Amino acid sequence: MRHTIHHEDPQVSQTIAVLKGDGIGPEIMEATLRVLDALNCDLTYEFHDAGLAALDAHGTLVPPETLAAIEKHGVALKGPLTTPIGEGFSSINVQLRRHFDLYANVRPAISFPGTRSRYDDIDLITVRENTEGAYLVEGQSLSEDGETALSSIRVTRSGSERIVRYAFELARQRGRQKVTAVHKANIIKTSSGLFLEVARKVARDYPEIELEEMIVDNACMQLVMNPNQFDVIVTTNLFGDILSDLCAGLVGGLGLAPGSNIGSEVAIFEAVHGSAPDIAGKRIANPCALLLAAADMLDHLGMAEKGAKIRGGIREVLENDREQVTPDMGGSGNTDTFADALVKVVQS
Ligand code: NAI
Ligand code: MG
Repeated sequence: MRHTIHHEDPQVSQTIAVLKGDGIGPEIMEATLRVLDALNCDLTYEFHDAGLAALDAHGTLVPPETLAAIEKHGVALKGPLTTPIGEGFSSINVQLRRHFDLYANVRPAISFPGTRSRYDDIDLITVRENTEGAYLVEGQSLSEDGETALSSIRVTRSGSERIVRYAFELARQRGRQKVTAVHKANIIKTSSGLFLEVARKVARDYPEIELEEMIVDNACMQLVMNPNQFDVIVTTNLFGDILSDLCAGLVGGLGLAPGSNIGSEVAIFEAVHGSAPDIAGKRIANPCALLLAAADMLDHLGMAEKGAKIRGGIREVLENDREQVTPDMGGSGNTDTFADALVKVVQS
């Protein structure tokens, strides 16, 4: 299996697929690409349709050309996509995850100044298994009398191994000290037990990184009471879904939450929030989450210094240039003034 955390040769110009997205997508993408350009990342952007824009132009939410481009380039930066409700469409994000077997959902939670949050100095990453666990379509049933519902959990040794290994590789890459494996092996002895067993085994290959084991209910309490004790968290699908939103809440909500979906061949970077149709076109959307996703993409492409510049720049603008910040963060600026300010900072 190829681990794509590092791009082999950062010197070679890289083409990425860019999906501007729906609603506020094009506005925050424009701001983000301006900042990437200001950093001289030497990226070539190939724009492709997805979402409502694609539905109009191609009659489908995810056209085959878009899938082919993502596959070819291996990296996509994606704006939020609107999935039409009640018209028989399945979620685009689920489609992309299945198509490319994007098994790792990686969500950093970092404290930024000027946000409404209970804690400072949180800097943790949740790594959620994204293809198995409790989120299976098959194995769900309701008895004929409607009185009993059943669903199943599938955890595989190989699925657990690749997610735990991803978490440890990420920890090693970023110089992090500890990986916490979150489980419920005391009760769900088979599936959660297998995950934990594999985590212990994989951890032996990373002697410099501590493996901590934590039962999921305790993990929730610990996160709320003392989040700074965490570094990298790795867990199965359902627990990861819940914990990653909990962590976003700890640092002030979805406005600053990036997420990446990683497979062995393809990685897709995005903001966690949606297309915000209520503010689309007003140019007041906060571009920070997509900018942070772009920073994670730069890390992935072997340009960690430039990624750090984006994060540091955001911190500086949020701290020192409140007039340029978007209204959702209490500023009096808009998407464009924020991008202007950030461009200035990263170029200085
Ligand atoms: P949403 O995240 O789009 O909006 C929730 C609230 O947060 C709204 O009031 C919105 O204005 C605000 N908001 C979101 N992002 C913001 C930003 N960058 N700056 C300032 N305010 C922001 O969630 P909602 O309304 O549930 O979904 C809208 C559409 O987005 C739906 O079609 C949904 O399917 C889609 N969606 C797509 C996602 C993706 O492509 N990754 C993820 C979540 C939702
Ligand atoms: Mg979720």
